[in-house]
This record gives sequence, C-alpha cells and structure tokens, in this order.
Amino acid sequence: MSDTPATPLPANTSRETSHEANTQWGGRFAAGPSAVMQEINASIGFDRKLWRQDIAGSLAHAAMLAKVGILAADDESAIREGLAAIAAEIAAGRFPFVQELEDIHMNIEVRLTERIGEAGKRLHTARSRNDQVATDFRLWVRDAIDGLSAQITDVMRALAIRAAQYAAAPMPGFTHLQTAQPVTFGHHLLAYVEMLSRDRARLADCRVRLNECPLGAAALAGTSFPIDRHMTAETLGFDRPAANSLDAVSDRDFALEFLSCAAISAVHLSRFAEEIVIWCSAPFRFIRLSDAYTTGSSIMPQKRNPDAAELVRAKTGRITGALVGLLTVMKGLPLAYAKDMQEDKEQVFDAAEAWTLALAAIAGMARDLTPDTERMKAFAGSGFATATDLADWLVRTLKVPFRTAHHVTGRLVAKAEARGVGLAELSLAEMQEEEPGITADIFSVLTVDASVASRRSYGGTAPGNVAAQARHWLEALG
Ligand code: ARG
Repeated sequence: MSDTPATPLPANTSRETSHEANTQWGGRFAAGPSAVMQEINASIGFDRKLWRQDIAGSLAHAAMLAKVGILAADDESAIREGLAAIAAEIAAGRFPFVQELEDIHMNIEVRLTERIGEAGKRLHTARSRNDQVATDFRLWVRDAIDGLSAQITDVMRALAIRAAQYAAAPMPGFTHLQTAQPVTFGHHLLAYVEMLSRDRARLADCRVRLNECPLGAAALAGTSFPIDRHMTAETLGFDRPAANSLDAVSDRDFALEFLSCAAISAVHLSRFAEEIVIWCSAPFRFIRLSDAYTTGSSIMPQKRNPDAAELVRAKTGRITGALVGLLTVMKGLPLAYAKDMQEDKEQVFDAAEAWTLALAAIAGMARDLTPDTERMKAFAGSGFATATDLADWLVRTLKVPFRTAHHVTGRLVAKAEARGVGLAELSLAEMQEEEPGITADIFSVLTVDASVASRRSYGGTAPGNVAAQARHWLEALG
C-alpha cells in the first residue's frame, strides 16, 4: 500500500483501525474483519485502475442530484472540487490507497469526506457500489475498445502497406502445410487484414450493446429518490440508461463479449505469429526479422529467435483463459449482484493488456520483416504446385472433364516424381503418353508467375487483384 494520508482521518475511520467496524457500512457491526476476510474481500489492488471512471461517474451523479434538487448546490460544488483534487492526487501518485477500504469506490469516497467533510457523505445518495462498479467498468471497457480498435487499424495498415509492396511476389500457398498452389505474399498478408477487420467490427458491435448506463439502478431495485437516469447516462456518453435495474447491476455481458472479441482476435494474431515462426525457421527462411524483434541464445551463437512472435502466440492462452475464467465466474450466479463479480476485472484488465501488447508486437514485426522473395518464389514452384494449372489447361483447351483432367495430371505428377523432376521438366512426348491431345502450349501455364497471374477470379491471388485490394484497404484505413 501507498504513503500515509496527507490529512489525518476523522476518528474511528477504518483506514487505521482494522479492529473497528467499517465506517462505510459498519453501523450494525461491532468488530472489524479478520485479516483473511480483508484480504479476500479487497479489490483495491487491481480496481484502482478504474479511478478515472469512478470520478467521472461520481461527478455525473452529483451534478444530477443537484439538478433534481436532492443535493444542495454548494455541496455539489464542494464534491466537484474535492473529486478534482483527488484526481490530481491519484494522477500524481500521492493518493493514500487503503486496503481496509476495500475498493476504489470507498477509497475515493472516504478521501472525499476527509477533504470536504459532510458533503462527501451525501454523494452516495441514490446509488450503490453495485451500480457504481457496473458503470465504472463499462466506461473502462469502452475506453479499452476505442484504444484497441485504433491499434487494430494500425496493424491492418502496416499489413496493407506490405501487401501492396509484395502484391506480385509469389510464395507457396499451403493447405495442411503441404504445398498447394502458388499465391502471392501480398495476398497472404491481406488475408490477415480481413481477419483483423472482422475483429474491429466485432469490437464496434460489442461497444454498441455495452453503451447503456447502469447508474441509478442503485443496489438492485432502483431508488425512491426522483433521480434523472437519462441525464447521467447522457453525461457519461451512454446511449440510454439500462432498462432493468436488476439486469443493470448483474450484467457482465459486455465484459464477456469484450473477452470473446479478444479471444478471437488473439487466435488470429497467434496464427500469424506461428507463420512468422515458421517462415523464420532455417528450413524455410522465407523472412528475416531484424535485431529489433529477435533475441539471441546464451549458448548457441548462431541463433536468432523470434521470441516476440512466440510470445504473441502464447498470449492467446492468457486471453482465452480470461474468457473461460469469467464465463465460469458468471455461470449460475443468481440475480442480482454477487461478490463473485468482483473477479471480473482482473480477467479483463489482463486480457486487454496482453491483447494490446500482442497487437503492438505484430504491427512492429509486420513493418520489420524482410521477405526473401527469390527463395519464396523458388519454393512456390516446388512440390508440383502448378498441377492444378495443368489440369485446368486440359479442361480449358481439350474440353476434358475436370475429374478426368485431375486423373491425367495425377499420372503426370507420378511420372515426374519417379524421375525426380518438376512437371515443367517432363518432355512433351512424356506428357502425350498420358494425353495425346497435349501441345507445347501447356508449358506456358506451368510457371509460378503464370499460375498466380491466372487466378483473376474475385478474391483470387492474381497480382492485379492483390494490388487493387491493398489499395482499397489503404484508402479505407486512411
Ligand atoms: N468492489 C466491488 C466489485 O468490484 C464493488 C461492488 C461491491 N458491492 C457490494 N455490495 N459489496 O464488485
């Protein structure tokens, strides 16, 4: 815990006297909590992250209370000034966080009363920590969504720039990690841009549903005070107040949705990270990462390890773990609030941090990597990668049914494999043994460049398509 309070506490506050009952709710309590009770109950160690949102929520609440005549104007201005001073204290690292005061809400409220006296004790009229924490947490997740969306956009831009640069650079396309057909490196990178655009859209969607204000639901049933929930909702940038007070204090769908978005995006990032690891490996050597994104080995001087990519891959474990963790916390909780729900925050904070870092690392590596385009192209043509082009030629030129063409091509592949050569190294005579109609024109479709150039169908890998898609994204991303 942090430094001692700047001003002395009023007598009998729990800040210094854990053997006494809590001043915030201890009216009916004769004694303070046991040490383990205090430890298991306290969330201040992590929910202090919500201080900005808590102060914003309190300011909105106090302004509303004053507007409807529940709070005197001078009390409201004292609260406003007191909260501003507390914000400054926290920002400067001078705020005396106290575990006995459990959480950020009570820490700030007690401090406010220390600073401004009686008026501070009026702030909690017509609200509860239940609606308070639900509001604060929504505000926090909303800010996180905005930051992460901007970061995803940055990764998309980084990838689209590289895609434009390598729109025509062939590489082997894989299925089952077996050479399938040539694609271009730009095309491959743009696949991730599509995934990330869905991640961004999912976040935007999550934000829409999140943006309802729980404040004023009070403990669970609403309040007898004539509060204006529309006013607080609007002040805090919410679209509307949450319609059902029970749901308002017990809903954590927004956190679950956020974690679902995070988990899916983390899976995307880990797939790319895995490809980076593969591409960097000695047998592949498709790309090289600079010193900025690799580490050496303490024993093997030749090593250049793609640790950042490996750690992005690993962050997925924490993030999907957070989703499963919170789903499990929420499962079977009866309405309305239960203390279990205090366990929502660390999962979300941790996942958001891991996601942010993973996105930053992927953006960095996308900008940093240098592909070996010669090597990629050489491998793009290996493994009979243009066999489908040969079959397509038979269909197009000789009007052979595709299934038959597939069979003929299979025999030619077997023949080439037996001789240890590529398809283009078979002689015309050898080809004609399998299909007499084949002419020398067939060799024109067996090169890697011809193969990728021919894939002009919508969404295909032809360099012209890829360049146009990259341009489209760069314009759309601004
Ligand atoms: N620290 C609590 C949480 O994060 C705040 C709400 C506490 N409410 C209560 N009734 N004890 O969930």
